[in-house]
Amino acid sequence: MPKLHLITYGCQMNEYDSERVAGLLRDERYELTETAQDADLILLNTCAIREKCEDKVFSRLGELKHLKRERPHVLIGVMGCMAQLWQGKIQERAPSVDLVFGSAAVSRVGELVARARATGAPVLETGEAPLVKITARPEAVGQLKAFVTVMEGCEKGCTFCVVPVTRGRERSHSPASIVAEVRELAAAGVREVTLLGQTVNAYGRDLTPATDLAALLELVDEVEGIERIRFTTSNPYNLTPRLIRAIRDVPKVVEYLHLPLQSGSDRVLGRMHRGYTRARYLELIAELEETVPGIALSTDLIVGFPGEEEADFEQTVDMVERVGYDNVFVFRYSRRPGTPAATMLDQVPEEIKARRNSRLLEVATRVGAARSRALEGRVLPILVDGVSRKNPDEATGRTRCNRVVNFDAHGRRLLGEVVPVLITQALPHSLRGELAGAGAEGRVLATAAV
Ligand code: SAH
Ligand code: F3S
Repeated sequence: MPKLHLITYGCQMNEYDSERVAGLLRDERYELTETAQDADLILLNTCAIREKCEDKVFSRLGELKHLKRERPHVLIGVMGCMAQLWQGKIQERAPSVDLVFGSAAVSRVGELVARARATGAPVLETGEAPLVKITARPEAVGQLKAFVTVMEGCEKGCTFCVVPVTRGRERSHSPASIVAEVRELAAAGVREVTLLGQTVNAYGRDLTPATDLAALLELVDEVEGIERIRFTTSNPYNLTPRLIRAIRDVPKVVEYLHLPLQSGSDRVLGRMHRGYTRARYLELIAELEETVPGIALSTDLIVGFPGEEEADFEQTVDMVERVGYDNVFVFRYSRRPGTPAATMLDQVPEEIKARRNSRLLEVATRVGAARSRALEGRVLPILVDGVSRKNPDEATGRTRCNRVVNFDAHGRRLLGEVVPVLITQALPHSLRGELAGAGAEGRVLATAAV
């Protein structure tokens, strides 16, 4: 059997697409291999969100060039966002690449690989195509968590972001196809699903009849075997009271929301075209906390957006303190071709970005640690997903707010189960706990919001 080595960069949506590609190529008799050295086909599923992501891909392609010299029959392919953004330029810069294809061509990957193999000529497929739900995936024995893409594309046009260029228009998959996929996953043993979309809370408005994410969550909630439902990424602009109520009311939906703020300064938010102000964002946070007490929040922030001054940056720092995020992802602004911000004149020097980056991380770490400590002494429902990395005698799992908890399972086999665990200590990257007895069940229900 020919062997496929698949390298995935970037977001969860890419991970999802890679699974589909592995599944489709398995139908063409390709078997997955962990090493590039013994592969017959090497595919790189790429990310273009920041320049650094692209640099990684080009340096990997540089290494693979040598491999191809030793094993000339090996085919090298580039898929995903860089394929869509750079198209033929990828093969100009890295001539060892045999095929380049965008997301729309994923469903035809088998045919594209066969064509590259048969003709020996470069293959380039980056056009648009109708949306198809591909359900092929590799056999995942014992997989407890899975991603499910519910919509593609984004039409928001934030001035820093390349996604509208690489992922195209907003297109939602039908509720029926999504529920069918979740059912299949549950039957294969999956306990937690994460519904994915670039602006997942805009789900369904392009469908006929139109629907929304809240309605979809209710449908997914009915799937037997699924314990937890997450969804990402939500845009503050599209966060409706109905969705906030769904987080409270739909039992399997976790009390955790990733809500990218990007900047705490109205001036910068305006230039980013985010469509909300800092006051509006704080209003949403207040509504979330009132409706879903104890809700955990995380966010994305950009430092060094063109024209960002010290005072703007301080407003971002202030928002991190005010909101009290569980987790913060900080990115240094990166100029992306074809985006409005790339040609703004007041670009911020790299050393200022670096300084703001470390300052913000410092504050975010302190704020996140305080949130962690607040969990000490509470009994929380933990979905057990493996053994602890540091101590194989211990079990590991996650809270509904997605924190890692390690605890002594006293030899019990708990994989895939939800068990009550008393949180005894908050460490920098995880929590420690003790298995709580059956008597703790009542308290678990009472604290299920965490
Ligand atoms: N759909 C999501 C964002 C997807 S990109 C949303 O609604 O926000 C993931 C994160 O990458 C973004 O939230 C942003 O913080 C960061 N990002 C996007 N473009 C960037 C750029 N040009 N430079 C730095 N960070 C960027
Ligand atoms: Fe990008 Fe903004 Fe859409 S960050 S993915 S254009 S919501």
